[in-house]
Amino acid sequence: MALKIDFNNVFHPLLQNEKLVERDIDNFEDKFTKAFLNLREKKEKNELGFFHLPYLPEEEVAEIEKTAREIREKFKYFVVLGIGGSALGPLAVHTALNNLRYNELPEELRGGPKFYVEDNIDPERMASLLKVIEPEKTVFNVITKSGATAETLSQLLIVTELLKKKVGERFTDHLIFTTDPEKGNLRALARELGVKTFAIPSNVGGRFSELTPVGLLPAAVTGINIRELLAGAREMAERCERENLWENPAGLAAAIHVLLLERGKNMAVMMPYADSLKYMADWYAQLLGESIGKRLNRRGEEVFVGQTPVKALGVTDQHSQVQLYTEGPFDKLLIFLEVERYRNTVVIPPDFPQYAELKFLGGHTLNELIIAEKKATEFALLKARRPNYTVIFPEVNPYTVGEFLYFLEAKIAFMGEYLDINAFDQPGVEEGKKATYALLGREGFEEKRQEVLKVQKD
Ligand code: PA5
Repeated sequence: MALKIDFNNVFHPLLQNEKLVERDIDNFEDKFTKAFLNLREKKEKNELGFFHLPYLPEEEVAEIEKTAREIREKFKYFVVLGIGGSALGPLAVHTALNNLRYNELPEELRGGPKFYVEDNIDPERMASLLKVIEPEKTVFNVITKSGATAETLSQLLIVTELLKKKVGERFTDHLIFTTDPEKGNLRALARELGVKTFAIPSNVGGRFSELTPVGLLPAAVTGINIRELLAGAREMAERCERENLWENPAGLAAAIHVLLLERGKNMAVMMPYADSLKYMADWYAQLLGESIGKRLNRRGEEVFVGQTPVKALGVTDQHSQVQLYTEGPFDKLLIFLEVERYRNTVVIPPDFPQYAELKFLGGHTLNELIIAEKKATEFALLKARRPNYTVIFPEVNPYTVGEFLYFLEAKIAFMGEYLDINAFDQPGVEEGKKATYALLGREGFEEKRQEVLKVQKD
């Protein structure tokens, strides 16, 4: 069953002057049509590769599945080395679709290697990883679109040295590089060493790459049905091709975000009511933050636009952040993620009926409780005049996750068009990357080094 998106709570009468009205959307039609046609043109010119990902050729899917099968047979550990768009998607999809305690399961229940996504270079984290894996039984999937990210390449150097010590010349059997098809030093190194590689299409940016081998290989290695992921994404791609704004989920969601942004809702809180979807909020935070947070519009004028992403978890954060969301500044749009059918049912046994606080719970399920708590939070927000909308997963499965990923990517593309900014670059991130190169003495960055050191001195 398909993903449903319920936008009623941005139009709800309880919101009073904080609500949108149907006319707001009707008045947005012209902007939508222009954005729709621009995006279609870019898609046809092959400028925006993520639009094409759900239609990945059969031979590429089969090659990913074949490699995944071999890894499942031969190795005990699979470690993703990457950061940003090269890590958040694999982690989000793994958490959504595998057992929440996957690595702790006995081998026969897991069916695949233990899985780690190492997206930070905290030395303590690397040291602790190396205590729990056996390098000679590990595949390291080095993922970097640019092939130049300092964090990922430093991790590569560390594991390469380790592998050479443990397995000698056969160290390349333990490496897989996922990178640009042509550009970057990782591609060159792969050629030199004969390392197995997968390609991230050159017209797909890091944070839009989950449906490339970046996300598909790690997913397949842990036993996720990647054909279903792609099928879900395809179904959503078709929905996002609809030419009527009210019927186009990505176009409509983006219009709602932009209209509310214009009315001061400069934060977007994503609050899944499912631990399985917790890291989807992390993945989305990068997508929204990095794509829409921009200084310049496409005409080169300073606009300083953005909607700050906030990650929350239902019900956990009801007991921390929801106070702020109901009574704090009127600057937030909330996006709930709801699950209709959890993959497990847990009954709350009836006992101690002499206590009112326990009596009403007994006989219900945790499923009923979590859904009731979501509805209750929704109610509290509406009463406090806070706009929100809900993405409803009939069930969290590869199909609905594929739909969800594509929906959010397409929504961000529409937001970029509506706001007249380039949603696909990240000059702010690049500046930090260059400063890191400079501080660590990379050749060619001497001038940048002087600039950074001067600022530090001042
Ligand atoms: O979306 C982006 O382009 C970035 O966030 C990248 O994903 C991130 O900086 C990592 O870059 P790379 O994949 O080139 O190592």
